[in-house]
Amino acid sequence: MIIVIDFGSQFNQLIARRVRENNVYCQVEPSNISVDKIKALNPKGIILSGGPSSIYEENSPRMDRSLFDLGIPILGICYGMHYMVHTLGGTIKKAAKREYGFASLDIKEPDPLFKDMDTGFQCWMSHGDSALELPDNFVVTASTKNTAIAAIANHEKKFYGLQLHPEVEHSINGALMIRHFLFDVCQCQENWTMQSFSDGAIAQIKAAVGDKKVIMGLSGGVDSSVAATLIHKAIGKNLFCIFVDNGLLRKNERETLEKSLIANLDLNIRFVDAADKFLTALKGVTDPEKKRKIIGTLFIDVFDAEAKKIDGAEFLGQGTLYPDIIESKSAFGGPTDIIKSHHNVGGLPEKMKLKLIEPLQLLFKDEVRKLGAELGIIEDLIWRQPFPGPGLAIRIMGEITPERLEIIRAADAVLLEEIKAAGLYRKLWQSFAVLLPIKSVGVMGDKRTFANCIAIRAVTSNDAMTADWAKLPHDLLGQISNRIINEVDHINRVVFDITSKPPGTIEWE
Ligand code: XMP
Repeated sequence: MIIVIDFGSQFNQLIARRVRENNVYCQVEPSNISVDKIKALNPKGIILSGGPSSIYEENSPRMDRSLFDLGIPILGICYGMHYMVHTLGGTIKKAAKREYGFASLDIKEPDPLFKDMDTGFQCWMSHGDSALELPDNFVVTASTKNTAIAAIANHEKKFYGLQLHPEVEHSINGALMIRHFLFDVCQCQENWTMQSFSDGAIAQIKAAVGDKKVIMGLSGGVDSSVAATLIHKAIGKNLFCIFVDNGLLRKNERETLEKSLIANLDLNIRFVDAADKFLTALKGVTDPEKKRKIIGTLFIDVFDAEAKKIDGAEFLGQGTLYPDIIESKSAFGGPTDIIKSHHNVGGLPEKMKLKLIEPLQLLFKDEVRKLGAELGIIEDLIWRQPFPGPGLAIRIMGEITPERLEIIRAADAVLLEEIKAAGLYRKLWQSFAVLLPIKSVGVMGDKRTFANCIAIRAVTSNDAMTADWAKLPHDLLGQISNRIINEVDHINRVVFDITSKPPGTIEWE
């Protein structure tokens, strides 16, 4: 395995993915990890990530310097390189010219990271500091026009430093540099595959659960479906799934789940129809935060009441992913904190006094999809776009009523059908309809209409932290608009949301 030390870079998850893409297991650890723990993890190599700090700032992140005595190869990226240089006796200075963006990298000396590369290729830089003097036994292996010391090496100790960011796509040869570090420097082996992961996870679940029972909420989304499938493979009928219909789901949600997941697995599943409860509790509520709170609390109550009927359950299965875990371990709480507060089952384990089984907690979303395929889950389910816990409640502006739910379900179904037919569904992070309660005037046939408006929201994103509005083709927008107005009662106008995130959010509430 490889350990990535998190110095606060927005790219440290990306570094981990680049390593895993080479079938090498990689874990991100906070910079306050002890050297003893690193030793116990026994990594083949360590990558020190970049970070926003300057090494001379008072609170810039530091580690125990005995890290450099472990005899393990180390690659420092940007701040990680500055940290290595500074700690081992060199000096870092504020760069005369801040280098941000593209630069051409000139290779000066042989370096295993640059094996078989021609000099003078594009790389991506983002830093205000750079190395001025190197510690003993280091050499400069590459430069750019503005940065004399752009790459360094201590060949004997196998310490390497890159001022550029090899993990970002814009660095030509960046992925190859990481690959060379893994295989030429660290002598890693390519044994992290979804099949090996799946076998290991099933064995671990079996060992942890034994013949006890596990309860799990199924939402119809990718994460809970893959987690449930994995747990089911490990313990079969001792997994009890609960699907809560809160009345805020999209059209045919239960049927979709039955067709896509349950038909293929002999799952123990209980459907709880709690629509009335949720709609009653939401009556007259228009404030978005209030809606979320009511739905979150009620979900826990309904789930808890159903779970109590399952005698002697000791575990709660959850589809938590790696980014959530990294965030909670990181010393640098970033914006993903916000996403976590969305997790609608967040309060469950404490309330139910159950032990958690989270078999996906080492995986990124794309890896979960690969695992789903490995487990034989059908493609339609694996590639579903995310759907928020509070469901359509946060896509109907203002009060939620059964009539409005019917309108948005119909409009959303048309929109998704068209997006899928255009072959765009998988390319978009999310695409959905939003119901605006305002009324505007229109004319249909010879009649004046005065009806509601649907907004189309479609975004591209990698992680939902930032998103861009999708440049949907005009023909497609026209087709969606025509169909919604013709097929959905009470709608006479369709608009397209052209707000990116930030400043907008993906959902409207
Ligand atoms: P925003 O609207 O904050 O959404 O840009 C970012 C991502 O999170 C999803 N989302 C939620 N997911 N419960 C969830 O499970 C929630 O309360 C919730 N709110 C937003 C949203 O769909 C998008 O993918």
